[in-house]
Amino acid sequence: MASEPATQDRTGLDDIERLAPWFHNLHLPDGRQTAPHHPLGDFPRVKWRQIEPFLPQDLKGWRVLDIGCNAGFYSFELARRRAAVTALDIDCHYLRQARWAAERYALASRIEFRLGSVYGLARTDERFDLVLFMGVLYHLRHPLLALDILRNVTRRQLILQTLTSPGATYTDTPANIGLMERDALVADTWPRMAFIEHALEEDPTNWWAPDPACAEAMARSAGFRVVHRPGHEIWICEPNLTEATVDAELRRNELRAIFPAQ
Ligand SMILES: C[S@@+](CC[C@H](N)C(=O)[O-])C[C@H]1O[C@@H](n2cnc3c(N)ncnc32)[C@H](O)[C@@H]1O
Repeated sequence: MASEPATQDRTGLDDIERLAPWFHNLHLPDGRQTAPHHPLGDFPRVKWRQIEPFLPQDLKGWRVLDIGCNAGFYSFELARRRAAVTALDIDCHYLRQARWAAERYALASRIEFRLGSVYGLARTDERFDLVLFMGVLYHLRHPLLALDILRNVTRRQLILQTLTSPGATYTDTPANIGLMERDALVADTWPRMAFIEHALEEDPTNWWAPDPACAEAMARSAGFRVVHRPGHEIWICEPNLTEATVDAELRRNELRAIFPAQ
């Protein structure tokens, strides 16, 4: 397919500059890149290389949800594997970039872009075979609520990626600790999540930094089981079909109370 030449507006800015700032470095069909000097390297291609071996090459028939799709890097890769992609983001700026890039890649027909929040999924009956939840959890004020919601919409796989803090990796905690055993909560091996009241890296929306053990424990507590750890701060999870039904029902009731049917 012939790629469109870069266009300039009246101010002399080309379309990449007009749509800046970019968080995703997209490699466009005409050879240009949207964020070639990204501080995290060729981002998020570096992360995609870690997760893509765990995904089927052909996702025909799969419904995929990319939460916090940003400029759409992951949505494009999944659409190329023939998935039907729903790309959700709360920020119009990023959705504008993603829609524009989808046209450049001729992938627009396979991706439905939606403006909205992860919390809005509490009211949906939709189910997705694969849910990408990459780089969003720590931006949320209510991360466990989001995971509970995602458990209800995930059919086969959830890919969770989050900023973490240094700390315990992969510990399991006892079924119960006594009131007088609370020293255990400050042991190095206890899962922890740091709350950031102000800002991290100048970003006041970075609210939480769980350590790896805590990220896993949160996923488990929301009804997932961790099946792979493909890289630093990334977990591939599946719905835990054997979770206690009482817990699951309580969580469902809680969600109904917070998000009553409209
Ligand atoms: C750090 S970026 C991660 C982008 C992409 N998922 C990745 O891993 O490269 C966080 C993205 O999540 C979006 N976001 C933040 N809060 C959200 C929410 N409540 N619901 C949906 N998207 C959200 C932001 O607009 C932003 O595009």
